[in-house]
Amino acid sequence: MIDFYLNNPDNKLRNNLTNTILLKNDSLDYHKSLEGYLPTTLYKLNNLSSRLNIEELYVKDESKRFGLNAFKALGASYAIYKQLIIDPSISTFCTATDGNHGRAVAWSANRNNKKSIIYVPKQTTSDRIKAIAGHGAEVIQLDLDYEETCKYALEMSNKMNWKLLQDASWDGYEEIPAYIMSGYLTHFIEMEDSINSINTPNIDIVFLQAGVGSWAASCIWYYLNRYKLNKPKIVLVEPENSSGILQSLLSNKRITPTGNFDTIMAGLNCGIPSKSGWNIIKNGCDAALTISDEYAKKSMRSLFYPINDDKKIISGESGAAGLGGLFKLIEEEKYEQFREHIGLNSNSRVLVFSTEGDTDKKNFNSIIN
Ligand SMILES: Cc1ncc(COP(=O)(O)O)c(C=O)c1O
Repeated sequence: MIDFYLNNPDNKLRNNLTNTILLKNDSLDYHKSLEGYLPTTLYKLNNLSSRLNIEELYVKDESKRFGLNAFKALGASYAIYKQLIIDPSISTFCTATDGNHGRAVAWSANRNNKKSIIYVPKQTTSDRIKAIAGHGAEVIQLDLDYEETCKYALEMSNKMNWKLLQDASWDGYEEIPAYIMSGYLTHFIEMEDSINSINTPNIDIVFLQAGVGSWAASCIWYYLNRYKLNKPKIVLVEPENSSGILQSLLSNKRITPTGNFDTIMAGLNCGIPSKSGWNIIKNGCDAALTISDEYAKKSMRSLFYPINDDKKIISGESGAAGLGGLFKLIEEEKYEQFREHIGLNSNSRVLVFSTEGDTDKKNFNSIIN
Protein backbone atom coordinates (compact mmCIF):
# COMPACT_ATOMS: atom_id res chain seq x y z
CA MET A 1 0.00 0.00 0.00
CA ILE A 2 1.46 3.38 -1.04
CA ASP A 3 1.67 5.59 2.06
CA PHE A 4 2.76 8.95 0.69
CA TYR A 5 2.48 11.38 -2.18
CA LEU A 6 4.80 14.23 -3.11
CA ASN A 7 2.87 17.06 -4.72
CA ASN A 8 4.08 19.90 -6.91
CA PRO A 9 1.37 22.45 -6.22
CA ASP A 10 0.89 25.52 -8.40
CA ASN A 11 0.25 27.50 -5.17
CA LYS A 12 -2.58 29.51 -6.73
CA LEU A 13 -5.92 30.38 -5.22
CA ARG A 14 -8.93 30.12 -7.53
CA ASN A 15 -11.77 32.62 -7.74
CA ASN A 16 -14.87 30.86 -6.49
CA LEU A 17 -17.51 31.06 -3.76
CA THR A 18 -15.25 29.55 -1.10
CA ASN A 19 -12.47 32.01 -1.88
CA THR A 20 -14.89 34.94 -1.76
CA ILE A 21 -16.20 33.88 1.65
CA LEU A 22 -12.69 33.29 3.01
CA LEU A 23 -11.55 36.73 1.79
CA LYS A 24 -14.39 38.38 3.73
CA ASN A 25 -13.37 36.65 6.96
CA ASP A 26 -14.14 38.46 10.21
CA SER A 27 -14.06 35.39 12.45
CA LEU A 28 -11.60 36.69 15.03
CA ASP A 29 -13.85 39.67 15.84
CA TYR A 30 -16.80 37.31 16.13
CA HIS A 31 -14.97 34.79 18.32
CA LYS A 32 -13.67 37.57 20.57
CA SER A 33 -17.28 38.58 21.20
CA LEU A 34 -18.09 35.15 22.64
CA GLU A 35 -17.95 34.56 26.36
CA GLY A 36 -14.99 32.34 27.21
CA TYR A 37 -12.92 33.28 24.15
CA LEU A 38 -9.18 33.12 24.69
CA PRO A 39 -6.48 32.51 22.08
CA THR A 40 -5.08 29.03 22.55
CA THR A 41 -1.47 28.62 23.59
CA LEU A 42 1.40 28.07 21.17
CA TYR A 43 4.09 26.01 22.89
CA LYS A 44 7.69 25.70 21.79
CA LEU A 45 9.07 22.30 22.72
CA ASN A 46 12.84 22.79 22.83
CA ASN A 47 13.78 19.39 24.19
CA LEU A 48 11.60 17.45 21.79
CA SER A 49 12.96 19.43 18.84
CA SER A 50 16.52 18.63 19.96
CA ARG A 51 15.66 14.97 20.21
CA LEU A 52 14.16 15.05 16.71
CA ASN A 53 17.21 16.96 15.47
CA ILE A 54 15.23 19.87 14.06
CA GLU A 55 15.69 23.57 14.85
CA GLU A 56 12.31 24.38 16.39
CA LEU A 57 9.03 22.64 17.12
CA TYR A 58 5.81 24.55 17.87
CA VAL A 59 2.55 22.99 19.04
CA LYS A 60 -0.69 24.98 19.11
CA ASP A 61 -2.79 23.37 21.81
CA GLU A 62 -6.51 23.45 20.98
CA SER A 63 -7.66 21.43 23.99
CA LYS A 64 -8.78 24.57 25.84
CA ARG A 65 -10.82 26.06 22.99
CA PHE A 66 -14.09 27.32 24.52
CA GLY A 67 -13.83 24.50 27.06
CA LEU A 68 -14.80 22.02 24.33
CA ASN A 69 -11.55 20.05 24.12
CA ALA A 70 -11.13 20.56 20.34
CA PHE A 71 -10.76 23.34 17.76
CA LYS A 72 -13.98 22.59 15.89
CA ALA A 73 -16.17 25.25 17.53
CA LEU A 74 -14.19 27.88 15.61
CA GLY A 75 -15.94 26.71 12.43
CA ALA A 76 -19.41 25.73 13.62
CA SER A 77 -19.98 28.82 15.77
CA TYR A 78 -19.01 31.19 12.96
CA ALA A 79 -21.10 29.38 10.33
CA ILE A 80 -24.16 29.38 12.63
CA TYR A 81 -23.66 33.08 13.36
CA LYS A 82 -23.58 33.82 9.60
CA GLN A 83 -26.62 31.61 8.89
CA LEU A 84 -28.66 33.29 11.61
CA ILE A 85 -27.90 36.71 10.10
CA ILE A 86 -29.30 35.46 6.78
CA ASP A 87 -32.29 33.70 8.38
CA PRO A 88 -32.93 34.29 12.10
CA SER A 89 -35.97 32.00 11.96
CA ILE A 90 -33.91 28.78 11.62
CA SER A 91 -35.08 26.55 14.47
CA THR A 92 -32.91 23.42 14.12
CA PHE A 93 -29.38 22.72 12.96
CA CYS A 94 -28.40 19.23 11.85
CA THR A 95 -25.07 17.56 11.06
CA ALA A 96 -23.29 14.24 10.71
CA THR A 97 -20.12 13.84 12.74
CA ASP A 98 -17.67 11.43 14.27
CA GLY A 99 -17.56 13.60 17.39
CA ASN A 100 -15.87 16.97 17.60
CA HIS A 101 -17.77 18.82 14.88
CA GLY A 102 -21.09 17.53 16.26
CA ARG A 103 -20.23 18.75 19.74
CA ALA A 104 -19.33 22.12 18.27
CA VAL A 105 -22.64 22.37 16.39
CA ALA A 106 -24.60 21.33 19.50
CA TRP A 107 -22.75 23.91 21.65
CA SER A 108 -23.21 26.71 19.12
CA ALA A 109 -26.90 25.94 18.44
CA ASN A 110 -27.58 25.83 22.17
CA ARG A 111 -25.88 29.19 22.72
CA ASN A 112 -28.29 30.65 20.15
CA ASN A 113 -31.32 28.93 21.71
CA LYS A 114 -31.69 26.66 18.68
CA LYS A 115 -32.18 22.90 18.55
CA SER A 116 -29.64 20.47 17.12
CA ILE A 117 -29.97 16.99 15.70
CA ILE A 118 -26.64 15.20 15.46
CA TYR A 119 -26.18 11.93 13.54
CA VAL A 120 -23.17 9.78 14.38
CA PRO A 121 -21.87 6.69 12.55
CA LYS A 122 -21.78 3.19 14.03
CA GLN A 123 -18.21 3.41 15.40
CA THR A 124 -18.68 6.58 17.47
CA THR A 125 -17.94 5.81 21.13
CA SER A 126 -20.32 6.47 24.02
CA ASP A 127 -17.99 9.09 25.55
CA ARG A 128 -18.21 11.15 22.40
CA ILE A 129 -21.99 10.75 22.17
CA LYS A 130 -22.40 11.86 25.79
CA ALA A 131 -20.25 14.94 25.19
CA ILE A 132 -22.51 16.02 22.30
CA ALA A 133 -25.74 15.28 24.17
CA GLY A 134 -24.40 17.34 27.10
CA HIS A 135 -25.12 20.48 25.05
CA GLY A 136 -28.81 19.63 24.69
CA ALA A 137 -28.54 17.96 21.27
CA GLU A 138 -30.58 15.00 20.13
CA VAL A 139 -27.89 12.49 19.14
CA ILE A 140 -28.87 9.62 16.87
CA GLN A 141 -26.44 6.80 16.19
CA LEU A 142 -26.90 5.05 12.84
CA ASP A 143 -25.70 1.65 11.76
CA LEU A 144 -23.80 3.32 8.89
CA ASP A 145 -20.28 4.49 8.12
CA TYR A 146 -19.29 8.18 8.16
CA GLU A 147 -20.00 8.94 4.50
CA GLU A 148 -23.39 7.18 4.60
CA THR A 149 -24.24 9.06 7.79
CA CYS A 150 -23.51 12.35 6.00
CA LYS A 151 -25.91 11.37 3.20
CA TYR A 152 -28.58 10.46 5.73
CA ALA A 153 -28.21 13.80 7.56
CA LEU A 154 -28.62 15.59 4.22
CA GLU A 155 -31.78 13.64 3.35
CA MET A 156 -33.33 14.21 6.78
CA SER A 157 -32.48 17.92 6.76
CA ASN A 158 -34.17 18.34 3.38
CA LYS A 159 -37.21 16.38 4.54
CA MET A 160 -37.59 18.08 7.94
CA ASN A 161 -36.54 21.58 6.88
CA TRP A 162 -33.56 21.62 9.27
CA LYS A 163 -30.45 23.66 8.42
CA LEU A 164 -27.67 21.24 7.54
CA LEU A 165 -24.34 22.43 8.98
CA GLN A 166 -21.93 19.98 7.39
CA ASP A 167 -18.15 20.57 7.53
CA ALA A 168 -17.61 19.14 4.06
CA SER A 169 -18.82 20.40 0.70
CA TRP A 170 -20.07 18.83 -2.51
CA ASP A 171 -21.70 20.10 -5.75
CA GLY A 172 -24.36 22.60 -4.75
CA TYR A 173 -23.38 22.69 -1.05
CA GLU A 174 -20.47 25.04 -0.62
CA GLU A 175 -21.54 28.14 1.29
CA ILE A 176 -21.85 26.68 4.80
CA PRO A 177 -18.61 24.63 4.60
CA ALA A 178 -16.87 27.81 3.41
CA TYR A 179 -18.08 29.70 6.50
CA ILE A 180 -16.86 26.79 8.64
CA MET A 181 -13.44 27.00 6.95
CA SER A 182 -13.47 30.74 7.42
CA GLY A 183 -14.15 30.29 11.15
CA TYR A 184 -11.06 28.07 11.39
CA LEU A 185 -8.93 31.00 10.18
CA THR A 186 -9.10 32.46 13.69
CA HIS A 187 -6.39 30.19 15.02
CA PHE A 188 -3.95 31.00 12.22
CA ILE A 189 -4.59 34.73 12.74
CA GLU A 190 -3.96 34.24 16.48
CA MET A 191 -0.34 33.44 15.61
CA GLU A 192 0.27 36.71 13.73
CA ASP A 193 2.03 38.18 16.74
CA SER A 194 4.41 35.21 16.85
CA ILE A 195 5.25 32.75 14.08
CA ASN A 196 2.91 34.11 11.37
CA SER A 197 4.73 37.42 11.15
CA ILE A 198 4.23 39.97 8.41
CA ASN A 199 6.25 39.19 5.28
CA THR A 200 7.62 35.72 5.88
CA PRO A 201 6.48 33.06 8.33
CA ASN A 202 8.89 32.10 11.12
CA ILE A 203 8.31 28.44 10.34
CA ASP A 204 9.31 26.21 7.42
CA ILE A 205 6.96 23.22 7.53
CA VAL A 206 3.43 22.63 8.85
CA PHE A 207 2.01 19.16 9.51
CA LEU A 208 -1.80 18.99 9.38
CA GLN A 209 -3.99 16.02 10.19
CA ALA A 210 -6.88 15.59 7.75
CA GLY A 211 -10.32 14.02 7.81
CA VAL A 212 -12.47 15.52 5.04
CA GLY A 213 -9.72 18.13 4.57
CA SER A 214 -11.69 21.32 5.34
CA TRP A 215 -9.44 22.35 8.19
CA ALA A 216 -6.21 21.60 6.30
CA ALA A 217 -7.57 23.54 3.31
CA SER A 218 -8.32 26.58 5.46
CA CYS A 219 -4.73 26.47 6.73
CA ILE A 220 -3.34 26.17 3.19
CA TRP A 221 -5.61 29.00 2.06
CA TYR A 222 -4.40 31.17 4.95
CA TYR A 223 -0.71 30.65 4.20
CA LEU A 224 -1.15 31.07 0.44
CA ASN A 225 -3.21 34.21 0.84
CA ARG A 226 -0.77 35.70 3.35
CA TYR A 227 2.60 34.66 1.95
CA LYS A 228 2.02 33.48 -1.66
CA LEU A 229 5.15 31.57 -2.78
CA ASN A 230 6.77 32.21 0.61
CA LYS A 231 4.27 29.96 2.33
CA PRO A 232 5.68 27.19 4.51
CA LYS A 233 5.68 23.66 3.10
CA ILE A 234 2.50 21.85 4.06
CA VAL A 235 2.23 18.12 4.74
CA LEU A 236 -1.13 16.39 5.27
CA VAL A 237 -1.31 13.40 7.60
CA GLU A 238 -4.08 10.77 7.58
CA PRO A 239 -4.71 7.36 9.19
CA GLU A 240 -3.42 4.54 6.98
CA ASN A 241 -6.84 2.86 6.98
CA SER A 242 -8.79 6.01 6.14
CA SER A 243 -6.94 8.10 3.60
CA GLY A 244 -9.33 9.94 1.28
CA ILE A 245 -6.87 12.71 0.52
CA LEU A 246 -3.84 10.54 -0.19
CA GLN A 247 -5.90 8.25 -2.42
CA SER A 248 -7.45 11.25 -4.20
CA LEU A 249 -3.99 12.75 -4.80
CA LEU A 250 -2.77 9.40 -6.15
CA SER A 251 -5.82 9.16 -8.45
CA ASN A 252 -5.66 12.84 -9.41
CA LYS A 253 -9.35 13.18 -8.59
CA ARG A 254 -11.54 13.31 -5.49
CA ILE A 255 -12.56 9.75 -4.59
CA THR A 256 -14.09 7.70 -1.80
CA PRO A 257 -11.10 5.83 -0.36
CA THR A 258 -10.83 2.07 -0.13
CA GLY A 259 -9.71 0.63 3.20
CA ASN A 260 -11.21 -0.84 6.34
CA PHE A 261 -11.64 2.49 8.21
CA ASP A 262 -10.25 0.83 11.31
CA THR A 263 -8.39 3.50 13.28
CA ILE A 264 -8.28 5.08 16.72
CA MET A 265 -8.09 8.51 15.04
CA ALA A 266 -11.87 8.94 15.07
CA GLY A 267 -11.91 12.58 13.97
CA LEU A 268 -9.95 11.68 10.83
CA ASN A 269 -12.01 8.62 9.96
CA CYS A 270 -13.97 10.04 7.04
CA GLY A 271 -14.71 9.18 3.42
CA ILE A 272 -14.47 11.28 0.31
CA PRO A 273 -12.70 14.65 0.84
CA SER A 274 -14.68 17.86 0.90
CA LYS A 275 -15.05 19.27 -2.64
CA SER A 276 -13.88 22.81 -1.89
CA GLY A 277 -11.24 21.54 0.53
CA TRP A 278 -9.87 19.21 -2.14
CA ASN A 279 -9.63 22.05 -4.68
CA ILE A 280 -7.39 24.03 -2.33
CA ILE A 281 -5.40 21.00 -1.14
CA LYS A 282 -4.40 19.77 -4.61
CA ASN A 283 -3.18 23.26 -5.53
CA GLY A 284 -1.44 24.04 -2.26
CA CYS A 285 -0.29 21.04 -0.26
CA ASP A 286 3.28 19.84 -0.74
CA ALA A 287 2.91 16.24 0.38
CA ALA A 288 0.59 13.73 2.04
CA LEU A 289 1.45 10.83 4.30
CA THR A 290 -0.47 8.16 6.17
CA ILE A 291 0.41 6.88 9.63
CA SER A 292 -0.51 3.83 11.66
CA ASP A 293 -2.32 4.08 15.00
CA GLU A 294 1.03 3.29 16.61
CA TYR A 295 2.45 6.64 15.48
CA ALA A 296 -0.62 8.47 16.81
CA LYS A 297 -0.11 6.72 20.18
CA LYS A 298 3.58 7.50 20.23
CA SER A 299 2.86 11.14 19.54
CA MET A 300 0.18 11.30 22.29
CA ARG A 301 2.61 9.79 24.78
CA SER A 302 5.46 12.08 23.83
CA LEU A 303 3.24 15.14 24.42
CA PHE A 304 1.87 13.72 27.67
CA TYR A 305 5.31 12.74 29.04
CA PRO A 306 7.44 15.73 28.03
CA ILE A 307 11.22 15.80 28.09
CA ASN A 308 12.60 17.90 30.98
CA ASP A 309 10.98 21.36 31.03
CA ASP A 310 8.95 20.99 27.79
CA LYS A 311 5.27 21.65 28.45
CA LYS A 312 2.95 18.68 29.00
CA ILE A 313 0.14 18.64 26.41
CA ILE A 314 -2.99 16.50 26.58
CA SER A 315 -3.48 15.45 22.97
CA GLY A 316 -6.07 12.96 21.71
CA GLU A 317 -5.76 10.37 18.95
CA SER A 318 -6.61 12.70 16.07
CA GLY A 319 -5.11 15.69 17.84
CA ALA A 320 -1.64 14.15 17.89
CA ALA A 321 -1.66 12.80 14.34
CA GLY A 322 0.23 15.69 12.71
CA LEU A 323 3.15 15.19 15.09
CA GLY A 324 2.86 11.44 14.43
CA GLY A 325 3.57 12.21 10.76
CA LEU A 326 6.71 14.16 11.70
CA PHE A 327 7.91 11.24 13.85
CA LYS A 328 7.42 8.80 11.01
CA LEU A 329 9.32 10.93 8.48
CA ILE A 330 12.23 11.46 10.84
CA GLU A 331 12.48 7.92 12.21
CA GLU A 332 12.21 5.90 9.03
CA GLU A 333 15.28 6.02 6.81
CA LYS A 334 13.35 5.27 3.63
CA TYR A 335 11.67 8.71 3.48
CA GLU A 336 14.80 10.50 2.33
CA GLN A 337 13.22 11.76 -0.89
CA PHE A 338 10.19 12.95 1.07
CA ARG A 339 12.38 14.83 3.56
CA GLU A 340 14.24 16.47 0.70
CA HIS A 341 11.02 17.40 -1.08
CA ILE A 342 9.79 19.39 1.93
CA GLY A 343 13.24 20.50 3.09
CA LEU A 344 13.03 18.69 6.43
CA ASN A 345 16.48 18.84 8.05
CA SER A 346 18.29 20.04 11.16
CA ASN A 347 17.49 23.69 10.33
CA SER A 348 13.74 23.14 10.05
CA ARG A 349 11.22 25.07 12.15
CA VAL A 350 8.08 22.96 12.30
CA LEU A 351 4.51 23.75 13.39
CA VAL A 352 1.94 21.13 14.41
CA PHE A 353 -1.49 21.52 15.94
CA SER A 354 -2.86 19.43 18.75
CA THR A 355 -6.42 19.76 17.49
CA GLU A 356 -8.10 17.95 20.37
CA GLY A 357 -7.50 16.97 23.99
CA ASP A 358 -8.67 13.75 25.62
CA THR A 359 -12.03 13.68 23.82
CA ASP A 360 -12.45 9.97 24.61
CA LYS A 361 -11.10 9.72 28.16
CA LYS A 362 -11.28 5.91 28.39
CA ASN A 363 -9.25 5.41 25.22
CA PHE A 364 -6.88 8.21 26.13
CA ASN A 365 -6.09 6.69 29.53
CA SER A 366 -5.56 3.25 28.08
CA ILE A 367 -3.02 4.67 25.63
CA ILE A 368 -1.20 6.87 28.11
CA ASN A 369 -0.98 4.30 30.93
C1 LIG B 1 -9.41 16.54 16.35
C2 LIG B 1 -9.56 16.73 14.88
N1 LIG B 1 -8.48 17.09 14.17
C3 LIG B 1 -8.56 17.25 12.84
C4 LIG B 1 -9.75 17.07 12.16
C5 LIG B 1 -9.75 17.20 10.67
O1 LIG B 1 -10.64 18.14 10.16
P1 LIG B 1 -11.25 17.93 8.71
O2 LIG B 1 -12.30 16.88 8.81
O3 LIG B 1 -11.77 19.26 8.32
O4 LIG B 1 -10.14 17.45 7.84
C6 LIG B 1 -10.90 16.68 12.87
C7 LIG B 1 -12.18 16.47 12.20
O5 LIG B 1 -13.19 16.21 12.78
C8 LIG B 1 -10.80 16.50 14.27
O6 LIG B 1 -11.85 16.12 15.01
